[in-house]
Amino acid sequence: MRGIALSDKIRFLDTTLRDGEQTPGVSLDVEEKLAIARGLDSLGVQVIEAGSAMTSEGERQSIKAIAASGLDAEICSYARALTSDVDAALDCDVDSIHLVVPASDLHIECKLRSDRKSVIRKAVEVTEFAKDHGLIVELSGEDASRADMDYLTSLYMAGIDAGADRLAFCDTVGVLVPETTAEIFERLSHLGKPISVHCHNDFGMATANTVAALRAGAAQAHVTVNGIGERAGNASLEEVVMTLESLYKINTGIRCQDIYQLSRLVSRMTGLPLSPNKAIVGENAFTHEAGIHVHGLLANTKTYEPIQPEAVGRKRRIVLGKHAGRASVELALHEFGIGVSEDQLAQIVSRVKELGDKGKRVSDADLQTIADTVLSIQKEPKVKLHELTVVAGNTVTPTASVKIQLNGSEKLEAGIGVGPVDAAINAIRRAISGVADVRLEEYHVDAITGGTNALVEVWVTMAMADRKITARGADADIIMASVEAVLEGINRLMRLEEEERIKCQIR
Ligand code: KIV
Ligand code: ZN
Repeated sequence: MRGIALSDKIRFLDTTLRDGEQTPGVSLDVEEKLAIARGLDSLGVQVIEAGSAMTSEGERQSIKAIAASGLDAEICSYARALTSDVDAALDCDVDSIHLVVPASDLHIECKLRSDRKSVIRKAVEVTEFAKDHGLIVELSGEDASRADMDYLTSLYMAGIDAGADRLAFCDTVGVLVPETTAEIFERLSHLGKPISVHCHNDFGMATANTVAALRAGAAQAHVTVNGIGERAGNASLEEVVMTLESLYKINTGIRCQDIYQLSRLVSRMTGLPLSPNKAIVGENAFTHEAGIHVHGLLANTKTYEPIQPEAVGRKRRIVLGKHAGRASVELALHEFGIGVSEDQLAQIVSRVKELGDKGKRVSDADLQTIADTVLSIQKEPKVKLHELTVVAGNTVTPTASVKIQLNGSEKLEAGIGVGPVDAAINAIRRAISGVADVRLEEYHVDAITGGTNALVEVWVTMAMADRKITARGADADIIMASVEAVLEGINRLMRLEEEERIKCQIR
């Protein structure tokens, strides 16, 4: 097997904006696609498949905007073997087309109602047409992993003769395993043109298969940010890149430290949340709770972290619960600049475990409240809610007005939002805007009990400058639970900022 030499240049074609957008329920507008394309470009991917030009007018506007935005990456449109698809791509001013033809008999006969010869004829005709119009052509075999290899090879050879610049092999329904993938790519990498690997994750093998293909001679990997895509998704950019970088010690040329930021952007814009245990970018990927692990981490982070969180633009997070130990609690307190004696630490640990035993996650705000109690520090909240009125319904814009006490004086403000919770949070943020610039980064609701009168628990991540904090609110009313969580977060952030300011003055 041909192993990857360090000097080999692996290329990435990112298809978040085409295959990723095919995820059920996802539709990105021009601005969103442009923002993601800019993120991909600054990450360093070589090709951005910006969409399918023939799909709709909106899609063409997005592809045109990306092609005109002066990015370094090659901008590509998906096209079927139809000259009208190539015309639509040309109209968007792209650099290249990803020309896709069915390769397996199942797809040729059942989907296209055609035959092998006609598919090759169309592929050749459209490749020649696209080349005559100055496009780079990547000729792709759809469902190639279930195709007859001799036929697939003759399809690729005919495409090369017609002028195709690159080839692509699609494991459309994710049925490959690494061993077979390697055998296939050892054979196809001798056809004389660079070949891409395009893997789906139906059996959770997309990353392993992509890496196996690259090791066996594939020149380019098709990937999506967060692995989004139809069904179980595509090979994920962050997993493939970090596997190559960390496990195979290959410099991919990707700006790995920007991976997390782009992952968050894609998750926010597509509305697709990440599972907490998603490799590299999931909430828990660099989060530790168990006391014994934290103890090890304090000695050497490599004990429980295969890569440094900073390598992908993340921070290590220590969460506290029933598995917390003295080391993790001490570390978390240290993060907040709180020093405690051995005895106080023991009391705080035992209260944290008590909460953990009740099945509660202990938020940063909870820990600080516990520490304040143990250290007998009474702290008056800086922001206190006096009144909240919310108007919502199917014919009105959700509107909220709040009367709060801010640093001792009363303030009245109103805000609108996409719903009553959003309106209430916006009203509070406006009321404090001259004093604190607080952002709401994450919002999560859990129903604690069942039924429409359920007690709901709201978790928020609030940020001010580069400091982040998690806070919680619980109430039978979702608006009140949200407001409680937001106020808790704001108070903590303002207090931390004040404490930091005082410390600087003393120094
Ligand atoms: O998975 C696949 O086969 C595809 C093709 C349409 C390129 O995404
Ligand atoms: Zn695909």
